[in-house]
Amino acid sequence: MLKGRHLIDPMDFTLEEIEEILELGKDISKDPEKFTHLCDGKILATLFYEPSTRTRFSFEAAMLRLGGRVIGFSEPNSSSTAKGESIADTIRTISCYADIAAMRHPKEGSSKIASLYSTIPVINAGDGGHQHPTQTLTDLLTIKSIKGNLNNNIIGVCGDLKFGRTVHSLIKAMSRYDNNKFILISPKELKVPDYITKEVLMKKNIEFLEVEKLEEVIEKLDILYMTRVQRERFFNEEEYIRLKDSYILDKGKMSLAKEDIMVLHPLPRVNEIDYEVDEDKRACYFKQAKYGMYVRMALISKLLGVK
Ligand code: NCD
Repeated sequence: MLKGRHLIDPMDFTLEEIEEILELGKDISKDPEKFTHLCDGKILATLFYEPSTRTRFSFEAAMLRLGGRVIGFSEPNSSSTAKGESIADTIRTISCYADIAAMRHPKEGSSKIASLYSTIPVINAGDGGHQHPTQTLTDLLTIKSIKGNLNNNIIGVCGDLKFGRTVHSLIKAMSRYDNNKFILISPKELKVPDYITKEVLMKKNIEFLEVEKLEEVIEKLDILYMTRVQRERFFNEEEYIRLKDSYILDKGKMSLAKEDIMVLHPLPRVNEIDYEVDEDKRACYFKQAKYGMYVRMALISKLLGVK
């Protein structure tokens, strides 16, 4: 039963519950018009303490396309946060006005805290460099819709694997399906945190490899998940500048890849995928952005328990 639940971490839902959301997301993607009144009279609050394009707009568009309405802020200084209000008090107040909330915050664990004080479902729309479970639902729906299932993939994850919350959530989620293997491609300074390699991959005996060069492994990959170097999480700008262009996917590198590789990127892109790759039919990142709206429509409906 998903009604009334929070989504803070990809592991909060069972595989069956995720399947339920993906199935509905797929139905919605095929005929969105059919769902125009599912959330009539309901209100979504979007609490964004950090910049966002896709996540916030896709949440808002999702609720509007379901017939619901949206309140919120995209600039915390326009809320009582600027006066020193705590997350606990903000969410207790929002719970009085809205039926469901999506929250993005620069601090790891902040949506978890909000969920402890909330009487409405709280969705983690990104907590610092930690997790981003709705991006992962987006990724799962994209992979499933294009490939047909979520098993038997060699998944290359490339870029900032240290601070990239989308990567942490994706690895957690894809580790639960059969026979997926990972190739983790990053500079040594931006390797995946230990809690992912030790607590997720090693614990489940999942094959993985850590490498520094994309061109050496690209031919093996079924999925390539590119990510941006997360400037805002660096302590030192010089270090960011040194690492920011570690990877640039271009036509040359794409010529080494499988005919049916899927290239994904949560976006925004900075330099890591050359615009020339956009025309390649294997580039799926804008389709992915669209699936993000459909899967959020499904998630909102399920957490609100509307049918
Ligand atoms: C990602 C995020 O916010 O973590 N963006 C998104 O939600 N699609 C990725 C990023 O900012 O690099």
